[in-house]
Amino acid sequence: MTKRSCLSVILAAGEGTRMKSALPKVLHQIAGLPMVAHVVKAAQAAGADGLALVIGHGAEEMRKAAQKFAPGTECYVQEKRLGTAHAVLAARDGIAKGYDDILVMFGDTPLIDPAALAVARGKLAEGAAVVVIGFRPPSPTGYGRLIEKNGRLVAIREEKDCSEDEKKIGFCNAGMMAVAGKHALDLLDTVGNQNAKGEFYLTDIVEIAGARGLEVVATEASFESALGINNRAELAEAEGIWQQRRRREAMLSGVTLIAPETVYFSHDTEIGADTVVEPNVWFGPGVRIASGAKIHAFSHIEGATVASNCDIGPFARLRPGADLKVKAKVGNFCEVKQATIEEGAKVNHLTYIGDARVGAGANIGAGTITCNYDGYSKFFTDIGEGAFIGSNSSLVAPVTIGKGGYIASGSVITESVPEDALAFGRARQRTLPGKGKELRERFASAAAAKKKAAG
Ligand code: UD1
Ligand code: MG
Repeated sequence: MTKRSCLSVILAAGEGTRMKSALPKVLHQIAGLPMVAHVVKAAQAAGADGLALVIGHGAEEMRKAAQKFAPGTECYVQEKRLGTAHAVLAARDGIAKGYDDILVMFGDTPLIDPAALAVARGKLAEGAAVVVIGFRPPSPTGYGRLIEKNGRLVAIREEKDCSEDEKKIGFCNAGMMAVAGKHALDLLDTVGNQNAKGEFYLTDIVEIAGARGLEVVATEASFESALGINNRAELAEAEGIWQQRRRREAMLSGVTLIAPETVYFSHDTEIGADTVVEPNVWFGPGVRIASGAKIHAFSHIEGATVASNCDIGPFARLRPGADLKVKAKVGNFCEVKQATIEEGAKVNHLTYIGDARVGAGANIGAGTITCNYDGYSKFFTDIGEGAFIGSNSSLVAPVTIGKGGYIASGSVITESVPEDALAFGRARQRTLPGKGKELRERFASAAAAKKKAAG
């Protein structure tokens, strides 16, 4: 069978007033990615080769965002919100290009399962003209009900237009639909607005197709697949479900999560087998962790690449551009930004490494700071292989510590240090025998005199 072409039409013109936000609803994020981008990903996973985004509210912001998460998406503006069929027709020019399959999806339904879309497309391939994805919510209130006669789907009735009997139906419209491209415009153009809301309902194409003797089919998806987001409580609910799925996927792929419910992933987190993640770890976008790493509790990691067998945390912060090579260690209360920590190097305690390279096997003492910023520009610190940086040192960039260089504790290093050199950047110690006791006695008698004078 030849591959069928598919256009996904994603409806996202709604304002989403219940989010109470300056940001268009569908740009609110789940796992660090706008919810509409999750919908796009699902469409692509189901084989959509064209994307049409119907926008209205916040059109400019939506256009900009779309170019980021799905370059090449065609955006169509629906000027007035006259209903879901009217919204799909905003993408008329896209539909008219002659795709085999049209997948209609909602931008605010981010947990849609690509498999459910693929099943619907399969029905089109078998000859159906309209496939409705149904589901059984705990309470059907507010959803369109699927009206079946003799096991066949004959109509979808919106809640407001339902009879009392119809309201008892538990099988509801999830919102997603697959429509044969060759019939789509014809069916949509026939939809009227004679209903309780006076809107052009996409759901009416079921009855229209049936009346023309075209095949209409209902499939069933999970409740989560159809979860629509209208407010921030539902956003958090969707995030929770997404995280739960991802944690399970990670564990089944060989990652140990000691307390899975406390670990948060991003949409693009990559994590290798035999990595152990302790409780309360947060992965922001852009993280790649290889196998056999240990991520100790309370670490915060984003935009970082971690090679195999690295040891991170507890309480470590890896910021964008942190690049840890094999067996590197970044310990407690250390922050690494835009820096490479080469093989086996150790940054163990209370340290900031920014805009730097730490050579293989180097040892960075507690409290070391790379002073990378003068308030205007960032500068680079290069620490050579096997170097030893004594505790509580400040390396004022730009500066180079040569291979095997040795920095005395408490140094402020402002000039580069050659290979294997020892550098002190602090005042020489003076020790005065007996002076400590003398000083203490002086202070004690001064304090006694003051107390006496005060009466
Ligand atoms: C819709 C379905 C209903 C289904 C429910 C599932 C219709 C007529 N009803 O109802 O059967 O059970 O979803 O959640 O399709 N939109 C536009 N432009 C418009 C109207 C809507 O872009 O003119 C977008 C909205 O932004 C939203 C989506 O389409 O993303 C669905 O619209 P909404 O108003 O939420 O439809 P429901 O009443 O929930
Ligand atoms: Mg809705």
